[in-house]
Amino acid sequence: MNRSYTILLLLSLPLLETCKFSAQIRSETDRDVWAQFTFHNKTESEVFKFSKYGETKNFTITGTFCNLAPTVLKSWEQFPKKGMNPIGQTSAHLEGMGGTIYYKIFPKHGPAAVRAEGMLCSWGQCRLGK
Ligand SMILES: *[C@@H]1O[C@H](CO)[C@@H](O)[C@H](O)[C@H]1NC(C)=O
Ligand SMILES: *[C@@H]1O[C@H](CO)[C@@H](O)[C@H](O)[C@H]1NC(C)=O
Repeated sequence: MNRSYTILLLLSLPLLETCKFSAQIRSETDRDVWAQFTFHNKTESEVFKFSKYGETKNFTITGTFCNLAPTVLKSWEQFPKKGMNPIGQTSAHLEGMGGTIYYKIFPKHGPAAVRAEGMLCSWGQCRLGK
């Protein structure tokens, strides 16, 4: 292997492995609702609360090999205690640099991914009605 090829390989690998995209979550209910991400790296986000219709929150998801495990979003009607079942959840494998995935949280069925723009979403629920 020649030297310039080795350098090229070293430079391009981190780009292939890295992801950085936005997630925007919007509440579709006037009732209080709590939600939480479980990220691809198995860590959980803080539990965050929505208290009115149309309220949005933005997240940035970063990491490496984001596509290897699903990103999951769950919601509850009250602050979740250990072992409490969510109203619903949505899950998909996400990957990309600079795109956005849009989620809505519905009162009866919980969260759903609405669409992914400028990024990849696969192996799961990626748009409404699917
Ligand atoms: C989230 O991002 C959208 C679009 O960039 C923006 O309209 C909205 O105000 C943001 N919400 C918050 C809470 O920052
Ligand atoms: C896991 O991914 C999330 C979302 O990008 C990030 O905020 C968090 O710091 C990561 N945790 C670890 C241990 O890498």
